Amino acid sequence: MPLLPKKIVTCVIVFLVSSMVCLVAAEKIVWPISPIKAKKKNPVEYDASSIGQGKKLYSQWCMTCHGSGAKGDGPSAYAQTPHPPDLTDPSVWNEGDGGVYWRMTEGRESMPSFKTLITSKQRWEILIIYDR
Ligand code: HEC
Repeated sequence: MPLLPKKIVTCVIVFLVSSMVCLVAAEKIVWPISPIKAKKKNPVEYDASSIGQGKKLYSQWCMTCHGSGAKGDGPSAYAQTPHPPDLTDPSVWNEGDGGVYWRMTEGRESMPSFKTLITSKQRWEILIIYDR
């Protein structure tokens, strides 16, 4: 007689594999970016005009999903999988302005690509409001 019945071995393997899948799914899915792109600095000047422009553009293009305080709780946020993230979370800014700019440009899942929806200058203007 084998040490462990085949059925138990199969059961254990199925359990291990499925828990691994769950772990991977629970992790924030990484959104890789090239370090060169992340190094880009915001070319827009930080002043009253760009801040005003950034706020206007944010409420026009981003607020429905990311929310008025950018907490990821806009009116249409919960209809989406994954939910729009909290843009005030420091981890979003780990890769600097260039990283956020690139993700905004490309989009992913229900996050639209803003490459053609708004100009490059307008994308940087939105980022100005988070300048610190
Ligand atoms: C239709 C809903 C929607 C709109 C509109 C939208 N987003 Fe998003 N956004 C999302 C979702 C959903 C994700 C998560 C995508 C993913 O992780 O696959 C996301 C992710 C992001 C990220 C990546 C954050 C991270 O995890 O590093 C940034 C930055 C971002 N959005 C900025 C913006 C900005 C700025 C605007 C407006 C110009 C905008 N988004 C408009 C839904 C939206």
